[in-house]
Amino acid sequence: MHRLLERQIKRFLGESATQTPELAEFLSAIDEAYTRFDSDARIIERSLKLMSAELNESNDGLRIELAEHKQTELALQKEKEDQLLLITKLEEAQNHLMQSDKLASIGQLAAGVAHEINNPIGYVYSNLSSLEKYVQDTFELIDVYEQAEVAITAPDILERIKAKKEKVDIVFLKEDLKSLMSESKEGITRVKDIVQNLKDFSHVDISEVWHASNLHHGMDSTLNIVKNEIKYKADVVKKYGIIPDVECLSSQINQVFMNLLVNASHAIESHGTITISSGQLKDEVWVEISDTGQGIAPEHINKIFDPFFTTKPVGKGTGLGLSLSYGIIQKHRGRLEVHSERGKGTTFRVWLPVTQREDCSA
Ligand SMILES: Nc1ncnc2c1ncn2[C@@H]1O[C@H](COP(=O)(O)OP(=O)(O)OP(=O)(O)O)[C@@H](O)[C@H]1O
Ligand SMILES: [Mg+2]
Repeated sequence: MHRLLERQIKRFLGESATQTPELAEFLSAIDEAYTRFDSDARIIERSLKLMSAELNESNDGLRIELAEHKQTELALQKEKEDQLLLITKLEEAQNHLMQSDKLASIGQLAAGVAHEINNPIGYVYSNLSSLEKYVQDTFELIDVYEQAEVAITAPDILERIKAKKEKVDIVFLKEDLKSLMSESKEGITRVKDIVQNLKDFSHVDISEVWHASNLHHGMDSTLNIVKNEIKYKADVVKKYGIIPDVECLSSQINQVFMNLLVNASHAIESHGTITISSGQLKDEVWVEISDTGQGIAPEHINKIFDPFFTTKPVGKGTGLGLSLSYGIIQKHRGRLEVHSERGKGTTFRVWLPVTQREDCSA
C-alpha cells in the first residue's frame, strides 16, 4: 500500500481498525490513485529535470555568445578608433597638401612679380639718381648764365630771355622740379620695399629651412602685402612687446598672419581697429591680432577651424584660411587660440615655442 495512504489510515482509523470488504475495496481504489499520482509526479519531475538541464545548457550557450559578442564589440570599437585616427591623419595630410599648394602658388606668384618688377625698378631708380644729378647740373649752368646776363647789351636778346623766363616760370620750375624728383624717388623706394616684402613673404627659395626669425619683421612685411585690403577698413595699432627670434618656417607663419589680418578686416563692417600685440611667457612667444569687428556667433566658434567652414558669400571665402593656419601652428608645436564676443570683436592669439625640438622637419 502507498506509504502516505497507510499513514493516513493509521491516523484516522487507528492501528487496529477493522476493515469491511467495502472499505478495503475503497482503500484499494484510493491506493491505486495514489500510486498513479506518484508515477505521474515522477514523470513530471523527470521532465522538469530534463527541461532544467536543457535550460542550463542553453544558458551556458548564451553566456558564451554574450562573451563572444562583447569581444566583437571591443574589436569593432578598436576598429572605429583606428579609423578615426586614420581619418584625422588623412585630414591632416590633405590640409598639409592644400596648404603647401596654396603657399606654393602664392610663393610662385610673388616670386614672379618680384622678378618682373625688380629689373625695371632697378633702372628707373638708377636713372632717377642720374636725372637728379643732371637737373642739378643744368640749374647750376642756368645760374651761371643768369650771372652772365648783365654782360648782355643787345636789347632784343635781353627781351627774349625775359619773355622765356616768364613763360616757363623759372622760379616755380626750379622749386617744383626738386619736389617732383624727391616724390618720384620716394615712390620708387616704396615700390622697391614692396618687392622686398614680396620676396620676404614668399621666401622665394622653396626649400625653406627652420630658422630663427623675427616675428615683428614677418608681421610688418605681411602688413605691407595686405595694406590695401585693410586700409579703408581699419586703423592698425601695433603694440609690439619685446620678443626673441622664434625658430620657425617664417613664410608659413607669415601666411598665418595674413589669414588672421584679412579675416579681421573682413569682420569689420564700416571702420574699426586692428590691434597687433606680442609678448613672451617663459619659453613661448605670443602674437595677438585683435579686431573690433562683428565677432563670431557662439554656434560657429567650434567650427571655424574646420576646412571649408565659411560664413562668407560665394567667391569671398573658401573657408580654408583658419584650418590651414591651425595646421601650420600645430606643425610648429604651437597653439592658436580664439576669443570672440558678438558685436564687440575677435582676438586670435598665436603661441609659438621659441625653439623647436631636435626631431622637427619642414
Ligand atoms: N576675425 C574674425 N571675426 C569674425 N569672424 C571670423 C574671424 N575670423 C574668422 N571668422 C569666421 O570664421 C570663418 C572661417 O574663417 P577662414 O579664414 O577659415 O575662412 P574664410 O575667411 O571664410 O575664407 P578664406 O579661405 O578665404 O580664408 C569665417 O568665414 C568667419 O565666419
Ligand atoms: Mg579667411
